[in-house]
Amino acid sequence: MCGIVGYIGDKNAATILVEGLRSLEYRGYDSAGIAIVDKRKRLYLLKKKGKFKALTDCLINRQVAGHLGIGHTRWATHGEPNEANAHPHYGNTRNFLVVHNGIIENHHELKLALKKDGHRFSSQTDTEVVAHLVEKFYKGDLLSAVCRTIGYLKGSFALGVICMHEPDILIAARKDSPLIVGLGKGENFIASDVPAILSRTRDIIYLDNNEIAKISKTQVKVVDLKGKEIKKKKVRITWNADSAEKAGYSHFMLKEIEEQPQVIERILRHRIKSKTVTFENINLSRAALKNITNIQIVACGTAYHAGLCGKYILEKMLQIPINVDTSSEFRYRQQIITKNKTLIILVSQSGETADTLASLRAAKEKGAKILSICNVVGSSIARESDGVIYTLAGPEISVASTKAYTAQLMTFYLLGLYLSGIKETITAKQLSRYLKEMEKIPDCMRDIIKNQKKVKKIAHEYVDRYHYRLAEQFKFLEDDIVQFKDPKKALELAEKWASLSHSAYGRRFGDFPFLYLGRNVNYPSALEGALKLKEITYISAEGYAAGEMKHGPIALIDEFPLVVCIATKSEVYEKMLSNIREIKARNGTVLSIATKGDKEIRKKEYSNYIIEIPEIDDFFSPLLVALPLQILAYQIAVGLGCDVDQPRNLAKSVTVE
Ligand code: G6P
Repeated sequence: MCGIVGYIGDKNAATILVEGLRSLEYRGYDSAGIAIVDKRKRLYLLKKKGKFKALTDCLINRQVAGHLGIGHTRWATHGEPNEANAHPHYGNTRNFLVVHNGIIENHHELKLALKKDGHRFSSQTDTEVVAHLVEKFYKGDLLSAVCRTIGYLKGSFALGVICMHEPDILIAARKDSPLIVGLGKGENFIASDVPAILSRTRDIIYLDNNEIAKISKTQVKVVDLKGKEIKKKKVRITWNADSAEKAGYSHFMLKEIEEQPQVIERILRHRIKSKTVTFENINLSRAALKNITNIQIVACGTAYHAGLCGKYILEKMLQIPINVDTSSEFRYRQQIITKNKTLIILVSQSGETADTLASLRAAKEKGAKILSICNVVGSSIARESDGVIYTLAGPEISVASTKAYTAQLMTFYLLGLYLSGIKETITAKQLSRYLKEMEKIPDCMRDIIKNQKKVKKIAHEYVDRYHYRLAEQFKFLEDDIVQFKDPKKALELAEKWASLSHSAYGRRFGDFPFLYLGRNVNYPSALEGALKLKEITYISAEGYAAGEMKHGPIALIDEFPLVVCIATKSEVYEKMLSNIREIKARNGTVLSIATKGDKEIRKKEYSNYIIEIPEIDDFFSPLLVALPLQILAYQIAVGLGCDVDQPRNLAKSVTVE
């Protein structure tokens, strides 16, 4: 949800900002901008609508010198994506420049007041008021002006501020949106996320809420809103920048799909020591955990689907009631929390999702103990929780989450084992059987990845089917034009069809919706499979509990939708076969996800297409089922020519409510 980066030092600021923004593009990509100041107090400001490339194309062959700068990549919240709304923003003059991630909730009233004072606005954004306020309050000290400005702001912000009068200072401030300060030698940085500056420094300060940093090339001073200095801890980043690079893959998504066996292996190696599950930062005593009688899981998007699967896992292992809610619902609901009895588990890849963070705070206020499952180390959710379990998936760049999802699933299995040990709901024999089964997962995943050509073939066959149908529609168009005597009318019709055909693939795919069905522990897999497809192909897809099909979705069935049925060998296998028969009886097209060696499901009366996964205890099958569903979505997106890593309208980290 918008990425910001800033630099002060002796190197070329433009180069460093461009490098940083490129790795933050996953946070938003509808416009980008930079502001650079040189030693002679000259300003270079460039803003471009569209993907980041539009900005870098403009910079080719331009000598942009300067030692101080701020940059921004935008995901629009207030005002359409255009150059005027792109950041950096400035006040009446271009002396004060601001980049912002978050939402200024009271921007409207601030704007009205500023207008009365003679301030003129040139954008529709909420951010612009910040630049005007800093300009208004500036009395020769930028830090004081920013501190005063912040006193007027409601909402969330990560800010980078520079001023032409103090070209040796960069100011950073945060509340409820992530921001870090990178410490270099004779240079310093700010960024929304670590990968943006990791090639430049490994020493980081995580800013907390209502902290403001005054940064020169040799010093970083962090103060609170009253200007009182705060001593901050320097954190050394130990992971590699390579994991945030494409490494020869055509897309981050495919790279991250293929990384899953290593991720699961890493989690198992790290978490299982002498047949015992260990979590180093859980920070909740065994006695406190033993007392827990109910668990509430809260998350958004893919993490919510991992949470839903977590419910099946934990209920089976702990035999206590588990609720799951999306964060945006949980935070506004009546939260039923019993002190010392309710455990809240938050799941978040980024650890910054605004609604999940707000849920954390709401539950904490009611006295709940909070455990979070996060991927990004040091993120807000991780820091504000009582305990944290890191998922160890490494940086996930693709907007569509893949490896973070299976890492979250694996974490739930391990947490189940850990808690069931404490609650004594599992026998030593069961534990050892589960551990044995879990150890098989990385190799099973490797097998799926090795055989992914099959999934690709199915995906591309399906894309061809769609193109064929589109061609038929164009034929109909031609017939129509011929019939029109009035050439103007014919042209109008042709244009209408042409614009339709060039509009979003989702609409063009209107005749080809997808339905994903699963039961029990694979019901969340069906939801996640549908979400993956929607996110990157814009095809309308629905995930359903297979038993619910009769209560609505069955009305969709004819030969056009593709019905993806998760029918692995399990206690509900026969039930899935019955559902498939119901679909086939209505001339439906079925793609079955089945267990290797299952001869029954190969029969024509069940499957038009089949994708096999290796045999595993069905309790763990969601870890495997996820992969072919991810590959299917990926390959259809590639076949349709969609922008896989940067799907329209989405952002990886949703730091607005
Ligand atoms: C966005 C992303 C999803 C992600 C969701 C929750 O919608 O596009 O991939 O699942 O946010 O994010 P979190 O970082 O909290 O897991």
